Amino acid sequence: MNQLSQSSRSSERSPQTGVLFVCLGNICRSPTAEGIFQHLVNIHQLNESIFVDSAGTGSWHIGRPPDARSQRVALQRGYDISHLRARQVSAGDFDDFDYILALDAANLANLEKIRPQHYAGHLGLLLPFAPHLRRREVPDPYGGDEKDFQLVVDLIQEAAEGLLNHIKGRL
Ligand code: 4NP
Repeated sequence: MNQLSQSSRSSERSPQTGVLFVCLGNICRSPTAEGIFQHLVNIHQLNESIFVDSAGTGSWHIGRPPDARSQRVALQRGYDISHLRARQVSAGDFDDFDYILALDAANLANLEKIRPQHYAGHLGLLLPFAPHLRRREVPDPYGGDEKDFQLVVDLIQEAAEGLLNHIKGRL
């Protein structure tokens, strides 16, 4: 392929789609969502088209790895999330991400408060990407037990499939 056709091809390529998952602490639900969705992106070989991250609306756990219970339950299902570190969401994330998906309504409400007027991306909840679940929120498992952490993975796995299909249709 000659230089001209290479450069015209790359200039026609659509930019990457950014997906940010947001919960409260960024140590349970949103890193689990990041790990599960990143795994899907990897197996569909879409790393050049989609980038994935997660953040929390709260600041308590900045710099910490995911909760040990989230790590364990995710690993049981084949997702290693041990390398992730918590960070807090910022207004700049609205410049970087096309999809900002909250895990529950309270976090969505907090994101709506910092949403810049010009934001043209999709700010909403994750679970509507799995309408058959008939649930809107992934419950906070932090004060719960093993089954609450298992439910987090169950719900996110379903929605991650729907989200990937939605984004694939728009790439
Ligand atoms: P996450 O869970 O929002 O799914 O990461 C929580 C983690 C920590 C706290 C609350 C929820 N906390 O209150 O410290």
